[in-house]
Amino acid sequence: MTSPPQVRLPLEPVPQLDLAAQYAAIGAEIRTAVERVMASQQFVLGREGTALEDEIAKLCGVAHGIGLASGTDALILALRACGVRPGDEVLLPPFTFVATGSAVSALGAKPVFADIRPDTYNMDSAELTRRVTPRTRAIIVVHLYGLPADMAPILAFAKTRKLPVIEDNAQAIGASYKGQRTGSLADAGCLSFYPTKNLGAYGDGGMVVTNSAEIAARVRTLRNHGQSAKYLSSEPAWNSRLDEIQAAILRVKLRHLSNWQRARQSLAAEYNRLFSQIPGVMPPLAPDGFEHVYHQYTIRIEQRDALHKFLSERKIGSTVYYPYPLHLQPLYSALGHKAGDFPHSERAAQEVLSLPMYPELRKEQIARVVETIAEFLKC
Ligand SMILES: Cc1ncc(COP(=O)(O)O)c(C=O)c1O
Repeated sequence: MTSPPQVRLPLEPVPQLDLAAQYAAIGAEIRTAVERVMASQQFVLGREGTALEDEIAKLCGVAHGIGLASGTDALILALRACGVRPGDEVLLPPFTFVATGSAVSALGAKPVFADIRPDTYNMDSAELTRRVTPRTRAIIVVHLYGLPADMAPILAFAKTRKLPVIEDNAQAIGASYKGQRTGSLADAGCLSFYPTKNLGAYGDGGMVVTNSAEIAARVRTLRNHGQSAKYLSSEPAWNSRLDEIQAAILRVKLRHLSNWQRARQSLAAEYNRLFSQIPGVMPPLAPDGFEHVYHQYTIRIEQRDALHKFLSERKIGSTVYYPYPLHLQPLYSALGHKAGDFPHSERAAQEVLSLPMYPELRKEQIARVVETIAEFLKC
């Protein structure tokens, strides 16, 4: 008797991010928190926002947190609070989300790029000496993908030049560098609560965290039309407040953040284990003393675009963060940069690919992702 033909079941898609899985687990807690705000009928600058500011300041190990409308506003207001003015130069890496640069431009200041290290994708401190000028007024360091930048040499450089340092901590809440949380390492830390972030709201939101009472007071004033007292404005500003519903939702999620972080780290360890058998793929680096929180699990591979297509045809989500470094963005054409100016950022933009990563991801799904990549490399 011949055996029946094998039926090939369609493979389950693996999304790059699955917020619905998170909501399925915490939906009841979220609805209770939202209901609490509805019952209070206080929607802006109330108890939830103040409690969230305290809880996040504690998590980051700083004295102050100031809730804002977005991570972009956090960067703009932190730069302003650190004294950046129109015409000033601000050093930042070109391999980041555009907001890091556009926050500088929004103030009429000039972004000056400092290339990244090819192994961590974070700012290379050696570049700072090459790019600094007498007009440099501040440095923004990005902890890309959830990995802290190597802060010690950057802070040492900043100290010799008396430059404030701002951490763009949009992707790295909960990470730590030599035992100290990101956001607390420099003058001010900027968080984003964009929904896809490790701590994501159900809309936009952000926060500045700082140990400086002066910076905190300034950001608090700037987020509310520059009002130093009720209906008394002392400088031009706008409304950048975090609302109570978002704050209440974020407080629920904050209770889960450390478990989610551990889950991300264990999933990353599983990816790393499987990739150790596969030459041609460079997994993310997490040097000793650098705690990575895997906002993204990002590999580097020469045939990146072909792999991206291959995965998508097999219903595996992956994303290129970021295909264009800032110096080659049309936005910055007036700065006169050309291809080759920041080679490590340009190569990263061509070779990085972020794979599925979220706390609810299962190890079997990771195995499928890695097997599919191994199959691609054999083609
Ligand atoms: C590195 C980085 N900086 C800044 C931002 C801006 O944050 P937001 O979208 O909350 O304005 C983001 C996130 O989108 C980001 O990833």
